[in-house]
Amino acid sequence: MEKLISELSSLAAEASACASCRLFSGRKNAVFGDGNCLSPLFLIGEAPGREEDAQGIPFVGRSGKLLDKLLTEEIGITRADYYIANIIKCRPPENRNPLPDEVESCRHFITEQIRLIKPKVILTLGNFASQAVLESKEGITKLRERVFDIVIGNVKVKVVPTYHPSYILRAGGMAMAEMRSDMIRVKKLLRQ
Ligand code: URA
Repeated sequence: MEKLISELSSLAAEASACASCRLFSGRKNAVFGDGNCLSPLFLIGEAPGREEDAQGIPFVGRSGKLLDKLLTEEIGITRADYYIANIIKCRPPENRNPLPDEVESCRHFITEQIRLIKPKVILTLGNFASQAVLESKEGITKLRERVFDIVIGNVKVKVVPTYHPSYILRAGGMAMAEMRSDMIRVKKLLRQ
């Protein structure tokens, strides 16, 4: 446990000092990860937004609040029960989509986080994170409702792709019900 925390802290320090792509120049904070690093559940989003950049913590803005609510209602968990991080550690300007070279510069951080934390289940949030983790070009509507068995960072994991909570904030209704059903899928996998 101490070794894990110390390895994650060194990696977080590396992210805070990272200047391997253009995003470092606009950041207030690198946003490394948050939550319980001993958990079998790892949630992966896209990139920090304004609030996350200001606080250095992932998913603390509006979409994070919705995510917290859905996780509590469907799985009965809070942030103390799972780990959460983004593919990209620094905020892209005006929240634009991360560029391919930014994903490649940052990829080793998420791979290392997975290697160290060894989750059983990864819930990817949205198109971008799902495609990056699964190394797929398929859109989220095609990737959803499936469970992918993959090896990443030398760890065998089950990946459940779902929508990004910011999409649910816009789309509501049906999409929210579908995201809830993805969370129930995760709950069942965690029990297996
Ligand atoms: N959206 C993300 O993908 N990640 C965050 O941390 C916040 C919003």
